[in-house]
Amino acid sequence: MKCVAVLFAVLAAVRANGPVVRTAQGQLRGSVLKTVDGRDIFSFRGVPFARPPVGDLRFKAPVPMESWDGIRNATEDGFVCPQDWNGYGTRSEDCLFLNVYTTKLDVTTPRPVVVFLHPGGYYSVTGNSVWAGPQYLLDEDIVLVTANYRLGALGFLSLRDAKLPGNYAMKDQVQVLRWVQENIAAFGGDAGSVTLAGYSAGSFSVILHMVSPMSQGLFHRAIAMSGSPLVEMVAGRPEDQARKQAALLNCTTDSAEEMVNCLRQKNADDFVATFPSFAEFAYDPMLVFGPVVEPDFGDGAERFLTADPQELLLAGNFSKVPLMIGHTTLEFAWKSLQILRNSNWTEEMNTDFERIAPISFLYERGTEQSRRITAGLRKFYLKDQPITNASETGLGQLYADGIIIFPAHRAAKLISAKNTAPVYFYKFSYAGKYSYIYDPPGSQTPYGVVHHDDLLYLFYNPSEFFKLFTPQDEEFQTMKKMIKIWSNFMKEGNPTPERTSLLSNVTWEPYTGDNLKYMDIGSRLSMKEGLYNERVATWERLFPLPHTTAVKNG
Ligand SMILES: *[C@@H]1O[C@H](CO)[C@@H](O)[C@H](O)[C@H]1NC(C)=O
Ligand SMILES: *[C@@H]1O[C@H](CO)[C@@H](O)[C@H](O)[C@H]1NC(C)=O
Ligand SMILES: *[C@@H]1O[C@H](CO)[C@@H](O)[C@H](O)[C@H]1NC(C)=O
Ligand SMILES: *[C@@H]1O[C@H](CO)[C@@H](O)[C@H](O)[C@H]1NC(C)=O
Ligand SMILES: *[C@@H]1O[C@H](CO)[C@@H](O)[C@H](O)[C@H]1NC(C)=O
Ligand SMILES: *[C@@H]1O[C@H](CO)[C@@H](O)[C@H](O)[C@H]1NC(C)=O
Repeated sequence: MKCVAVLFAVLAAVRANGPVVRTAQGQLRGSVLKTVDGRDIFSFRGVPFARPPVGDLRFKAPVPMESWDGIRNATEDGFVCPQDWNGYGTRSEDCLFLNVYTTKLDVTTPRPVVVFLHPGGYYSVTGNSVWAGPQYLLDEDIVLVTANYRLGALGFLSLRDAKLPGNYAMKDQVQVLRWVQENIAAFGGDAGSVTLAGYSAGSFSVILHMVSPMSQGLFHRAIAMSGSPLVEMVAGRPEDQARKQAALLNCTTDSAEEMVNCLRQKNADDFVATFPSFAEFAYDPMLVFGPVVEPDFGDGAERFLTADPQELLLAGNFSKVPLMIGHTTLEFAWKSLQILRNSNWTEEMNTDFERIAPISFLYERGTEQSRRITAGLRKFYLKDQPITNASETGLGQLYADGIIIFPAHRAAKLISAKNTAPVYFYKFSYAGKYSYIYDPPGSQTPYGVVHHDDLLYLFYNPSEFFKLFTPQDEEFQTMKKMIKIWSNFMKEGNPTPERTSLLSNVTWEPYTGDNLKYMDIGSRLSMKEGLYNERVATWERLFPLPHTTAVKNG
């Protein structure tokens, strides 16, 4: 009786003032949101996981947050990292905040945790609740963590030296994983069961965490949606890019020391304002600032990425965890419309394809190898014909395959070859009424199943004007399926541990480089084999893997 009375008193206090949790850094007061099915979500938003990366801390690895006295309000999203869009909330360089969502604080059995890394090409978007709302996922017994990480030059600028090593944003993500190890038990989470999930740039990141020495042991499963880092992640040489940024901000490039000091004095907004100057053709490349390999400078600093990710995957030098990886049907195919509807861009691509192709499709530039690849792609996708409206499909596939589809297939192949845990591959092909791309723009007709469309069924995203699906929506069932698949994987490392009607009674069989099995996630689920074989084979041929020395028998 007494126990029950205390429980009711606690619940009443939670309703009146918000739930309070004690972390290693101090107490947090959260707020209560609701899932679509009506559960209470104890939500802790705007939780600082590192000291503000400003002033002397700009271009430095994150420094863990100091502790505070009393109760800190965690009832609203934190600042959004500087970027050229104001629809996600107030922007500030002081943006290293995470959100934690849970439906039970005092658990006897800690719950599986998922950390979600948002997309946005390493220069945009946020993990805040306006972009990655918990209203769908929290109907499962999962603890969700979303986070911001530094963006653009502020997250990645690198001279490839000890002064400006780069990868600040990646180290922010590592700091989130460390924060989870330290604090998630207080939110009912199991620090021994962490799924690292990400989309697009966030998915690039997931695979990089698999090969990073810094992230080892901090997560136990991985979900890589529509993105893999087996492309040129930085536009050009990082040091050229850093000098270009300095010049754009009127900083001297004569000495590295002066240059960095000058760059530290500039406003965060100045970096954002100069970002468009890094476009080299149309809106390409899609990745401008990104992760770099960090040589050992002998200063004892932690290095996020010690070698080329493909080499590390080939060598089996990665965290061996269950992996779910895949892409949507069309990904960036709509980019062909963007080009074809602008006669200047079409003309430029036609006359200067050899220069533009590596920029737009993210591979090495200016080498003999690069010219060979460009010729091969032009032959396969464009039949060696000039680009016209008749090239829409071929050019669209080229964008899709170069940026997302082939890198995802290659990552699955390399990881499954050396992993000791299963790899599950998918294609998301469900065509709902809503999409990130409508054609014509402004209409209500989706172009197809494009990049980000599957996220509509995992996170509520009011900032992009999507609705919260309710049981009255046709899309509700797909959302429920996606949540079931993803949460099964988070709980058991297996997306279909048992046959259920909701999941069309299917068993998702692991992918291997030999069987090429994948789940087609459409209005039904079905196991298939060999996705986009001819297209993938073309890239395999143009991007041969280095020969490994054969081990001689006897
Ligand atoms: C936290 O929020 C409560 C309720 O809105 C408010 O009364 C209090 O002043 C806030 N505390 C701080 C430190 O901002
Ligand atoms: C750099 O110099 C140009 C030309 O003088 C000026 O327009 C611009 O505002 C300066 N930018 C910064 C960030 O100082
Ligand atoms: C990669 O190899 C190094 C050296 O053998 C080892 O210390 C490290 O733990 C490995 N990393 C992963 C992620 O397996
Ligand atoms: C193409 O370039 C010309 C000359 O620079 C310009 O006047 C025109 O507006 C451009 N057209 C488009 C569609 O951007
Ligand atoms: C493609 O068709 C559109 C109209 O549908 C037209 O505006 C555009 O100029 C065409 N592009 C090319 C490269 O022919
Ligand atoms: C799944 O299997 C059950 C039991 O065999 C059956 O009743 C149900 O109709 C099946 N559902 C689907 C979607 O195939």
